[in-house]
Amino acid sequence: MSTATLNRLRGDFPGLVTAEGKVWHYLDSGATAQKPRSVIDAMSRALGPDYATVHRGVYARSAEMTLAYEAARRRVATFIGGAADELVFTRGATEAINLVAQSWGAATLGPGDRILLSVLEHHSNIVPWQLLQARAGFAIDVCPLTAEGCIDLDAAEAMLTRAHKLVAFAHVSNVLGSVLDAARAARLAHGVGAKLLLDGCQAVPRLPVDVAALGCDFYAFSAHKLYGPTGIGALWARGEILDAMPPWQGGGAMIDRVDFAGTSYAPAPQRFEAGTPAITEAIALAAAIDYVEAIGREAICAHEAALTRRLRDGLRATNRITLFGPEDSAGIVSFAMDGVHPHDLGTILDEENVAIRAGHHCAQPLMAHLGVSATARASFGLYNDESDIAALLRGIERTRRIFG
Ligand SMILES: Cc1ncc(COP(=O)(O)O)c(C=O)c1O
Repeated sequence: MSTATLNRLRGDFPGLVTAEGKVWHYLDSGATAQKPRSVIDAMSRALGPDYATVHRGVYARSAEMTLAYEAARRRVATFIGGAADELVFTRGATEAINLVAQSWGAATLGPGDRILLSVLEHHSNIVPWQLLQARAGFAIDVCPLTAEGCIDLDAAEAMLTRAHKLVAFAHVSNVLGSVLDAARAARLAHGVGAKLLLDGCQAVPRLPVDVAALGCDFYAFSAHKLYGPTGIGALWARGEILDAMPPWQGGGAMIDRVDFAGTSYAPAPQRFEAGTPAITEAIALAAAIDYVEAIGREAICAHEAALTRRLRDGLRATNRITLFGPEDSAGIVSFAMDGVHPHDLGTILDEENVAIRAGHHCAQPLMAHLGVSATARASFGLYNDESDIAALLRGIERTRRIFG
């Protein structure tokens, strides 16, 4: 992206300045992305002059809000190549994966069955399966990583058996930025009759995503990493799978008819959205998608890839840095500085108005695999530029001097 384009884009994000009005070098979009003004405006319009409930009101404003909410569902579904009736709004990726576990998983998995996860999964793609495992008694296998830090699909191929009912992998690792060959993962899973769930949290803001081309069966992501609001995300599930899944939470909006003699349920996706939904958040998520598509996902992907290469080269040229993850990681760079705890590094960088993430990144099994308790992680958004990298490298140099 040209400097002029980047300056214009940065101007769209009021969060990219400090309280003192200085440039904030925000390198933590992997945790949550800053919001463009168009998203903030869409949310405040929906909370203000347009506000009403959905699906129930007999008055015009509610009917309009229902149209806007359902239009948002279509917008989100189209963005990832799915159909609106295959798209369930959830509170985020975590809830989307819990939904699959508690609905599809509870109805499908039992003793003798196995599922395959990987070493690099976020806790939200591990713990929901362990919670279900305690009740349902299936086995969880863990796919190793290649030396570079990608999910080792040769190993997955050797591990998968007819007993496997599900393969659940991160599309992009939130720690290493490694990108899964999702189409191959789908072929391997389907080859043994298993379904493929992709945790798309870090992929959706960084790569063009088309669930049909990927060949997956479930796709989960959160809006807040995609420049949208917190409190909303989505689960896409292949139509015939979603249609057959039982409800997982009960309440208003998910029913067809309620009677003490027996209750019947609404068709998908409504069956999975009990209670008043996150109306304004859904509308703001659609605005975030409009914003991202106006820039173009290929352009964002290429921009972040260039920044990633530049940062990795810069870190490599710095003393005492260990880099994790593959060279072609998608917008996320994890590293460690000899003799400096990532929290200390993060604190010193904060004094320089540079924000990175330091910790286990909700991926403790991966930390154990890397032999560390924590890493420092810089993750890019569409608004980052060379000045953010320069500020990070300056801060690392200062940390090196402080620690001697
Ligand atoms: C790969 C991955 N999966 C799942 C999640 C969970 O997302 P949320 O907390 O928005 O539900 C995250 C968030 O960091 C993530 O990076």
